[in-house]
Amino acid sequence: MYLTSEEERIYDGEYGWARQASMKILVRLGDLFGATQLEPIESAHISGVSYKTMGDASLDFLNALASEGGKTQVISTLNPAGFDPEYLANRFPEEYREKQLRIIDLYETMGIQPTLTCTPYYLRKPQLSGHLAWAESSAVVYANSILGSWTNREGSPSSLAAALVGKVPNYGMHQAENRQPSLLIKVEANLANKTEFGALGIYAGKLLKDRIPIFGGLSNYVNDDLKQLAAGLASSGMTSMFYYSVPCEKGGLETVSVETKDIKDTVEGLSTASEVPDLIFIGCPHCSLNELQSIAETVEGGKVKRGIELWVCTPRHLKQKAANYVNIIEKAGGHVLCDTCAIVTWIKNLGVNTMMTNSAKAAYYAPTLNEVSVTLAPLSKCVEAACH
Ligand code: F3S
Repeated sequence: MYLTSEEERIYDGEYGWARQASMKILVRLGDLFGATQLEPIESAHISGVSYKTMGDASLDFLNALASEGGKTQVISTLNPAGFDPEYLANRFPEEYREKQLRIIDLYETMGIQPTLTCTPYYLRKPQLSGHLAWAESSAVVYANSILGSWTNREGSPSSLAAALVGKVPNYGMHQAENRQPSLLIKVEANLANKTEFGALGIYAGKLLKDRIPIFGGLSNYVNDDLKQLAAGLASSGMTSMFYYSVPCEKGGLETVSVETKDIKDTVEGLSTASEVPDLIFIGCPHCSLNELQSIAETVEGGKVKRGIELWVCTPRHLKQKAANYVNIIEKAGGHVLCDTCAIVTWIKNLGVNTMMTNSAKAAYYAPTLNEVSVTLAPLSKCVEAACH
């Protein structure tokens, strides 16, 4: 991979160990995947924030980078952490709290904004065709497909390395020829809600692996539906983007159809619980303003039942902006949480054994990452189960 003389100097350690270590990660990746050079990026979004999913070895690496003077060169944001400071923080052991706060503090020392959300595009929309180094896979698929950004599915170390160098190796989704669709998915099913858009993503992700699809035949959708589709695709497969909003007929491409039964089977297959839920979780990925509004409208006038918790997760700036919707949800006994989600916090420690959610992504991960059984159902059913 070609490096400019400035990049060579970073590689040789003239700008300190933190940038040198970061540059070595990027060059290693670039050589492995056939990059020709480094590409300047507009922003980095870094995963590996929750102490639950990180562990101590990653904490040591962060500590080394921060104490060696690592500083981000571009706008950089963080994925959700293991708890929010208001509702959950005091329900976990002191050690978890201390280590989680230490992780966030180390990122901040390096100049990374503690946004703690998986929907960073609500805070700041990237420029059309801007190159990014984003690590949250649902946000990557959303950014490539809906926002017109160019980003690979970065991991936690590579997104951080890209932030500290301000560049990424230009392989994969940074090349126009790798952004071409190779499969037409004819959606014959009439998708009735966001849960079914997410289920379409889970179903398609499994058959696509890393291929890029065109979804033909989608109708009456909003970006929040596509967000669920992106999150589902990113969970069950390695796809980095999809095309949509084209008619069903598109010549020359291998074609598969998705029927109503496929979606129904996928939703049922992700529902492993037979018990009443302890926790109802809405907001995977983190809610938009419109979603907060529709949750408030659905919950209004109800009261969350004793023994059930209702969590709605959203970015902090949207919680502040949507004070009226937040009041309605909290008046009904729900909790609007920022900085975290049910998957990256320790719900088992809170006594949760059964979770209900409207998110196919959350339903896909919770049985393994949280060891809970799950019911996947649309928002209206979730609220029905939560409230009197
Ligand atoms: Fe976000 Fe947590 Fe879902 S990080 S995408 S709400 S699993």
